[in-house]
Amino acid sequence: MANSPSGDSMTDRLVRVLETFTAERSMQTASEIGRRAGLPSSTAHRIVDELVAAGLLERDEDRRVHLGMRLWELALRGSTALRLRQAALPHMERVQALIREHTQLAVLEQGEALFLERLSHPDAGANITRIAGRLPLHASSSGIVLLAHAPGELRDRVLAGPLRAVSHETVTDAASLRRILAEVRRTGVAVAPGWIESVSTGVAVPLRDAGEVVAALSIVLPRDTPPEPAIAALRVAAGEIEQALRADRR
Ligand code: PHB
Repeated sequence: MANSPSGDSMTDRLVRVLETFTAERSMQTASEIGRRAGLPSSTAHRIVDELVAAGLLERDEDRRVHLGMRLWELALRGSTALRLRQAALPHMERVQALIREHTQLAVLEQGEALFLERLSHPDAGANITRIAGRLPLHASSSGIVLLAHAPGELRDRVLAGPLRAVSHETVTDAASLRRILAEVRRTGVAVAPGWIESVSTGVAVPLRDAGEVVAALSIVLPRDTPPEPAIAALRVAAGEIEQALRADRR
C-alpha cells in the first residue's frame, strides 16, 4: 500500500477520514474532515471524492458528506452484530411490550459498550443511549456486565483508569468497581442506579453464545421504578435469545 510523505498508509488515512464521523457529527464538509483527520486539504478532498464515487460516503446539495448506505450494507453483511441482533430482536420486543421502557442490546467494542439495538416505548423515561452509540464500560449497566466477563487484562486496563464520572453517582473507585464486577458475575445481573443520569437506573444481564458472554441485554428504567420485574423479564429473554443463537449454529 502506498505510503504518504508522513509515512501513514492509504488505509490509515481512510480510517481517519471515516472516524471523523460520530453519532453527534454525521454531516461534514471535506475541509472539516481534513482538519479533523489531520490530513492536507487536497488529500482529504481526493479521498472524500473517491469514497463518494464508491458510495461509501454520500454528498448532499450543500456539498456536505455523510456515511453512505453502501457502507452500512457492507458493514452488516454477515456480521456477528447482525446475527446477534436478529436472534435478540423478537425477544427484545416481548420485553419491551411487557416493561414499556427502553430495551437495548450492547456488545464490547474497543473498550466501550457499543449499542446494536434500542427499542423504546413512547412514554418511556430518559435514555441517552443511541443505536451505534457508545457508553463507558464502568458507568453503564451494560458496560458493567460486559466488563465483568471481559478478559482480565482488559478489566485491569479499564480499572487502572481514568474512570470518568458520567453523573454524580458514577462509581469511579477501582476497588469498589472490582467488588461490583464480582457481584455481577455471581448474581448474573448489573443494576446501575443513577450512574449515567440521576433520573434513571440501568439493569443488564449477560447473553452467552457457545459458552462465552457476547453481549448485554438491558433496560433503562425511571429511577423510582422497582427493578425486579425488569430483571425477571431480562433473564427470561436472555435464555430465549441464547436458545435462538444455539439453533442458529446448527
Ligand atoms: C445504563 O445502562 O446503565 C444506562 C444507559 C443509558 C441511560 C441510563 C442508564 O440513559
